[in-house]
Amino acid sequence: MKKQMDVSCHRHAVEFADGVYWVGALDPTLRTFDIILSTANGTTYNSYLVKGSEGVAVIDTVKENFSDEFFSRLESEVDYSDIKYIVLNHLEPDHTGALPELMRRAPQAKLYISQRAVSMLKALLKPAADKKENNFDYTTVNTGDSISLGNRTLSFLHTPFLHWPDTQCTYLEEEAVLFSGDVFGCHYCDQRLFNDLVGDFRFSFDYYYAHIMRPFKTYVMDALKLIEPLKIKQIAPTHGPILRERPRRYVTHYRELSTSSLSREIVNDNKTLIIFYMSSYGNTARMAKEVSDGASDFDDVRVSLYDLEGGETEPFVDLIEEADALLFGSPTINGDAVKPIWDLLSSLVVINLKGKLGGAFGSYGWSGEAVPMIEDRMRGLKMKIPQEGLRVKLIPDDEELEACRLFGYQVASVLSGKKEQQDVIDFADLK
Ligand code: FEO
Repeated sequence: MKKQMDVSCHRHAVEFADGVYWVGALDPTLRTFDIILSTANGTTYNSYLVKGSEGVAVIDTVKENFSDEFFSRLESEVDYSDIKYIVLNHLEPDHTGALPELMRRAPQAKLYISQRAVSMLKALLKPAADKKENNFDYTTVNTGDSISLGNRTLSFLHTPFLHWPDTQCTYLEEEAVLFSGDVFGCHYCDQRLFNDLVGDFRFSFDYYYAHIMRPFKTYVMDALKLIEPLKIKQIAPTHGPILRERPRRYVTHYRELSTSSLSREIVNDNKTLIIFYMSSYGNTARMAKEVSDGASDFDDVRVSLYDLEGGETEPFVDLIEEADALLFGSPTINGDAVKPIWDLLSSLVVINLKGKLGGAFGSYGWSGEAVPMIEDRMRGLKMKIPQEGLRVKLIPDDEELEACRLFGYQVASVLSGKKEQQDVIDFADLK
């Protein structure tokens, strides 16, 4: 029979490797995290304690509201005077809320952070109004750096943008424990703490990846190059279960999740251009067809045309992630683009669109705001707009339909490399 672990009532540290403890906090009633994430059964803020023969390290802290729980667990194992090191893998407030108080209680402890965390740390520890500056002792670390706790060694992995610029992982060599920060985490609160004891958290794990890590897939792949060669007995993330049973499968799963979800039917080196449109009287639909025809003049550009009236937006996200260019056609209704266009555009925050080509077109009756509004949104998503948007008042005539073909042709020519990019207006770079 499995040994059940219940840490909800007893505020003690939980040892999960020799001299290595969970000292985090449970937040079972949280239903929304960072405004955007649903957390159906709450989350945990995981903090860890590593005891060495020559000192103790605390790795990450907890959200400020949960400080009491964190300090109770910490005090169950160590005196504050024993803490020599505070390692911060990530400075978002859910992991640094208790930091100022911990620094007050253990003033001798040195902070270990990534280079990119310095400005965030200074912002977090702003001095009180009556002081000029806060004095705190920190060291920046990079891949290959380590600190010795006597019989224990903590080494660092530079793993930025998972999911903030400051993020890093810390590896306890002797026990093969990877303190991974948000990586391999999930919002899943279960007082049994360990992946072999808690309920089925597969959905939460994948949901967390999709919303937090997916936009940073290339950085995930870079991090995996550092993580995969390690011997790993346990993964200790900052949220959700500690992964002690078959931890390697979560590493493998991250690689799978970060690899293309669509089979590569597109011939290598071909570019993909997708045109999405909505039409109320058929005018924007006619424009879309002509834009598509114009773009299809290039053998190395695969053009797809989708009417958003005929589909839900969610399945398009994978397609868009792998596309090279996106064009949106929308009529203007009540001074705005139509809702399915905005639904699709707002669903794209989970992927990285930086550098993809974009453009907009549409028929309008009075003022035609939809096209510039869509362009603004695409610029906000760091896309490049090679061709000024195309607007047609009401029904496109032959000349205007020819302009639509030219619009499609010109976007595709940039994509195909037949047209130099020097006339691309890259507003993303201007910001
Ligand atoms: Fe769990 Fe990015 O903080």
